[in-house]
Amino acid sequence: MSFFFFAKNSKDDVTLNSKEVQAESKDKEVSAPRDIETPDEMEEDNKKRHLNVVFIGHVDAGKSTTGGQILFLSGQVDDRTIQKYEKEAKDKSRESWYMAYIMDTNEEERVKGKTVEVGRAHFETETTRFTILDAPGHKSYVPNMISGASQADVGVLVISARKGEFETGYDRGGQTREHVQLAKTLGVSKLLVVVNKMDDPTVNWSKERYDEIELKMTPFLKSSGYNVKKDVQFLPISGLLGTNMKSRMDKSVCSWWNGPCLFEALDAIEVPLRDPKGPLRMPIIDKFKDMGTVVMGKVESGSVTEGDSLLVMPNKIQVKVVAVYCDENKVRRAGPGENLRVRLSGIDDEDILAGFVLSSVAKPIAAVTEFVAQLQILELLDNAIFTAGYKAVLHIHSVVEECEIVELLQQIDPKTKKPMKKKVLFVKNGAVVVCRVQVNLICIEKFADFPQLGRFTLRTEGKTVAVGKVTELPSVSN
Ligand code: GTP
Ligand code: MG
Repeated sequence: MSFFFFAKNSKDDVTLNSKEVQAESKDKEVSAPRDIETPDEMEEDNKKRHLNVVFIGHVDAGKSTTGGQILFLSGQVDDRTIQKYEKEAKDKSRESWYMAYIMDTNEEERVKGKTVEVGRAHFETETTRFTILDAPGHKSYVPNMISGASQADVGVLVISARKGEFETGYDRGGQTREHVQLAKTLGVSKLLVVVNKMDDPTVNWSKERYDEIELKMTPFLKSSGYNVKKDVQFLPISGLLGTNMKSRMDKSVCSWWNGPCLFEALDAIEVPLRDPKGPLRMPIIDKFKDMGTVVMGKVESGSVTEGDSLLVMPNKIQVKVVAVYCDENKVRRAGPGENLRVRLSGIDDEDILAGFVLSSVAKPIAAVTEFVAQLQILELLDNAIFTAGYKAVLHIHSVVEECEIVELLQQIDPKTKKPMKKKVLFVKNGAVVVCRVQVNLICIEKFADFPQLGRFTLRTEGKTVAVGKVTELPSVSN
């Protein structure tokens, strides 16, 4: 593993006073050791576009197995390592888990067969450099999934076709639905729905089973806000065997599939280009000390160039960019969509918290303690009532903070999508409502201006209770 420019997250100093956020969001780097390339070689590489892809779906659907298989098929893991993992998995009586071990690098994950921290790895196709973010499926780790999804433009929703497993994942309480709703809210604009475990004896590449899953998922994806024709594509695979992944599968395996394989589908995904000339916005997900202060995050707007003068918001500290690293490579400049580590001068690492935003000086991001948002209530605990005084944990880009709903302004009619006339004092599950939200000082944007920095989720006691969009910021901010 290469931790050369990468440190494990250290969020110990981010004080969060809610139970559910104790499962802190952490990423772990999964990559084969590589030589550090020179900036010149990197400029060459940069001609390929870059996409962040988050793997989501119910626990045990096969996300880590599929992610591991992608690394194996793209030549980043050799046979010897696979044999070692086979033996280790066998010793833990988890024979079939060896492919997942490529992504699940922690002992706890290997023993339990469950991803905890988001695994991060890189691979390339003809046209694209991909960063894979392997999210955990278990419901205890939804905050980590949120952190993974908030960094991605594209989602691979992994669904197990094995008898009973699709059903458990899709049922109420299963993570298939929750992950889809969260992904949409967090800005994952395109979805590949991979129907996995097609090789399983209970499935055996059955067209009926595949069609059943597609038929059941389609209306749900629509109701979650995805345009199924434009933004969603289904395909069958076996992550464990690597079937229909790097190359199309043989008709002898599956006679009825005429569509693309996974690599082709990933290659063909188009995401809207972001403006590299816009004002810089890079939410900070982590920081550490290494010859200065290094911050990590994804550029949501604008570009970062060596030598730039920038602001760390909300504390308005002027900093200078000493160096920019993209994956393991030092680069002179990096644009929107890139995951970076940026070495700064002029600031101590103790003055930075996750959730702060590296921002342009000329047009800094707003720092607010209150905002107006349109919320969709998903599922309140025990059918609780949503009213002024309601408290929850707000997840918006890399921010995790307690917040309070201080006023319900208007309820939106779900049919006409227009505000209803009568005064609203409380709402129940399923309602769409405009409210005023109070929070400690945070940096956010209006959804209409920067979608990635203006959409959020509200959670209480480990459950997502609402998703929302920021519609108004106070006129005097900063
Ligand atoms: P979490 O990280 O806990 O959410 O699970 P995951 O989605 O990452 O699942 P993981 O890759 O750990 O796989 C779970 C189990 O499903 C393992 O036993 C895998 O071997 C098995 N599995 C995954 N993909 C396939 C597949 O394509 N076919 C078959 N037969 N089994 C699979
Ligand atoms: Mg996993």
